[in-house]
Amino acid sequence: MSSFKVAVLISGNGSNLQAIIDSFKTNKLIEVCCVISNRQNAFGLERASKAGIRNYFIDHSKFVSREEFEKELIQVLEKHNADLIVLAGFMRILSNVFVDKYIGKLVNIHPSLLPKHKGLDTHRKVLDGNDKYHGVTVHFVDNTLDGGPICAQSKFEVQTQNIEELEKKVHELEYAIYPKVIKEIAQGKMYLSEGKVIKK
Ligand code: GRF
Repeated sequence: MSSFKVAVLISGNGSNLQAIIDSFKTNKLIEVCCVISNRQNAFGLERASKAGIRNYFIDHSKFVSREEFEKELIQVLEKHNADLIVLAGFMRILSNVFVDKYIGKLVNIHPSLLPKHKGLDTHRKVLDGNDKYHGVTVHFVDNTLDGGPICAQSKFEVQTQNIEELEKKVHELEYAIYPKVIKEIAQGKMYLSEGKVIKK
């Protein structure tokens, strides 16, 4: 049986990528097939190299349009027969064409309890809003910003006013929830059907 192939798209540190790599290192059924970054200095590229995973820097700024950039992305994804595309701190908006092509095969992790706090600076927003809870969301990507159908969330009670502490806690939850969701999708236990997440 061939393995379920996961492509990870990043722009930066790649600590979620690392958690995913570590989770599936010894799993024969799930494989990180490639890592793609739109930023050359993304530390995640080094993490991928260290783990022996093919990795690519695709410079979005050298393309005339979003679609041209995405054509190159698609070439790499197809070359590696990616079954699932995992956005892990990927800081580019993807076009509707790309999203529609990979609908149900494209997931993102967002550092808030969506639908609360879409976009950036979520920890600051949590503190400013005096929120009782904070957390993370994994969702299928659709053509809305941070608005796609939710796969899973985990949360904690806010007990600090310190952004770094909040971020650390959020990261801990991310490292657990993202590999778990990826595994469930790979096993066919979770999928998108007519815009809804089905869990078996
Ligand atoms: C994570 O907090 C994730 O929720 C957000 O971007 C951050 C990426 O961090 N989408 P890293 O690159 O995985 O360390």
